[in-house]
Amino acid sequence: MSILQVENLNKAFGGLKVTNDVSLSLSVGERLALIGPNGAGKTTLVNQVAGFLHSDQGTISLNGQDITRWPAHRRVQNGLVRTFQISKLAPGLPAVEQVAMAIHQREGSLKNMWRNRWNYKPVVDEAMSLLEELRLTHLAMATPESMAYGDQRQLEIALALALRPKVLLLDEPMAGVPQGEAQLILNALTLLPKDLAVIIIEHDMDLVFRFADRIVVLANGAVLAEGTPDEIRKNEVVRAVYLGKAELA
Ligand SMILES: Nc1ncnc2c1ncn2[C@@H]1O[C@H](COP(=O)(O)OP(=O)(O)O)[C@@H](O)[C@H]1O
Ligand SMILES: [Mg+2]
Repeated sequence: MSILQVENLNKAFGGLKVTNDVSLSLSVGERLALIGPNGAGKTTLVNQVAGFLHSDQGTISLNGQDITRWPAHRRVQNGLVRTFQISKLAPGLPAVEQVAMAIHQREGSLKNMWRNRWNYKPVVDEAMSLLEELRLTHLAMATPESMAYGDQRQLEIALALALRPKVLLLDEPMAGVPQGEAQLILNALTLLPKDLAVIIIEHDMDLVFRFADRIVVLANGAVLAEGTPDEIRKNEVVRAVYLGKAELA
């Protein structure tokens, strides 16, 4: 069953066509990787899907509903959640409090957070059990600036999950993560709920080929190729345009 459907999406900045008639669909629980050279339009496409950018043309449907004109927050409320290429963590605030804030955001109870302690305890409990599910309990009281990059990125994934997404958009979860911590991110990704559909933008081909059920290759704003990791690995056009042969050997 399709959870997300993008049809003939277009976006231009001035004269520059950045999203060129892109169509793609995502099934419940599917892991889709969006790859392509820098400037291919990956982040722009994710911004359009998440509602941070208006599309010039095309439609976006979530669970059969046309969401093309919905603002970003309404998409989030309906289960379409993204993380950012650049970190949005709140400095100085312990991890568990950040997750609690995300839960309050989901429940629409953020302004009650400090007033209503009766409400607050179940939220903290939920935040703790979410951290536990992701094996991040040891980070509960840590602030982002005291964390390794890899841990920060995992916390960002926890914040997104606190919103109970049906579709998660991950824009370069490995960005800035040193090689030695890459395994942490891969572990976090393998712990994601099985029924969650994921679109991941990532340059780390090792992660992409391990994680993805399907890969879409973007070039100059258009879909250059689409297929299983095996099909993409063998695709001569993709190899020529983007993937170094050595990487795929
Ligand atoms: N707000 C913007 N205004 C003008 N040009 C933009 C804007 N955002 C992105 N671009 C351009 O669109 C192209 C695609 O960018 P982006 O979506 O960030 O690519 P990617 O994420 O694949 O590296 C690039 O040429 C970039 O310079
Ligand atoms: Mg990008």
